[in-house]
Amino acid sequence: MAALQPLLYALPGNEAFTRLLARAWPAEPGQLLARRFPDGESLVRLDTPPRGRDVALLCTLHEPDARLVPLLLAADTARELGARSVGLVAPYLAYLRQDRIFHAGESRSAALFARLLSAHFDWLVTVDPHLHRFHSLDEVYSIPSAAAAAAPLLAGWVAGNVERPLLIGPDDESRQWVAAIAREAGAPALVLEKVRRGDREVEIRVPDLAGWAGHAPVLADDIIASGGTLAAAIGRLRAQGWPPPVCLAVHAVFAPGAQEALVAAGAGPVVTTNTIEHATNGIDVSSVVADACRNLLARLPRRGTERPAGVA
Ligand code: R5P
Repeated sequence: MAALQPLLYALPGNEAFTRLLARAWPAEPGQLLARRFPDGESLVRLDTPPRGRDVALLCTLHEPDARLVPLLLAADTARELGARSVGLVAPYLAYLRQDRIFHAGESRSAALFARLLSAHFDWLVTVDPHLHRFHSLDEVYSIPSAAAAAAPLLAGWVAGNVERPLLIGPDDESRQWVAAIAREAGAPALVLEKVRRGDREVEIRVPDLAGWAGHAPVLADDIIASGGTLAAAIGRLRAQGWPPPVCLAVHAVFAPGAQEALVAAGAGPVVTTNTIEHATNGIDVSSVVADACRNLLARLPRRGTERPAGVA
């Protein structure tokens, strides 16, 4: 008898990506109900029985605090109802930027958040996690994980939409994404220098770019959060007489005011992937997420319905 497909449940707000992923993987969409009681507490119900199935919960994790409780309730419920394994597909994985203690007394939330998710899930798939001081998710997550790369898709978009592109990273942290996109798109690339002064204030230093005249500037970063980084870079480029730069990002976090900041700075088209649903989404990454899910499940340690070895 053929093995059953994985069962893929969408947490609220993730329905569109879940449909794309279910088709690409392929997985069977499951019915999950999540709602809040009048007192603000969450109720989660799995209407499709998960018994004996490899279960995946799809929940992108921008604004993660409110999403976390329903997500953990769903994971534990799937396990209690006999799921064979319970995985998390989080196209955007939160809390990776606080990867060290910057000021005495702060939490190192990247590690704490990873411990929390690792205690409730058997595996994890995400897209381009913000790995800066960590080299891999394995440094903080104790469960098997896979990071799908959006760079080939971003590069395809650049190749198809921008003539003579010059890829520009706004800061050192963006170097890995900019280099990968530039390599795949066969375009030149450079990286600017950033000093962060606060949550929304950054200073960007741009060298004289006169030697690149005739190229179309394409700013690329992994995350647009406050928009401060890209807005500062746009401002410096425009001050040198460059045309409105195309702005590319993997994760459209877009905190309140971010889009306005980009427009006010003089951005050209802003294009993001659908790891977080947003009006700027122009690149679908469900195919690379499906590849990552398939490959990870194929190498998942199996011991009946127990969790993989080494998992708390
Ligand atoms: C880290 O530095 C990242 O690569 C991004 O540049 C940063 O997270 C963007 O944040 P914001 O939009 O708030 O400047």
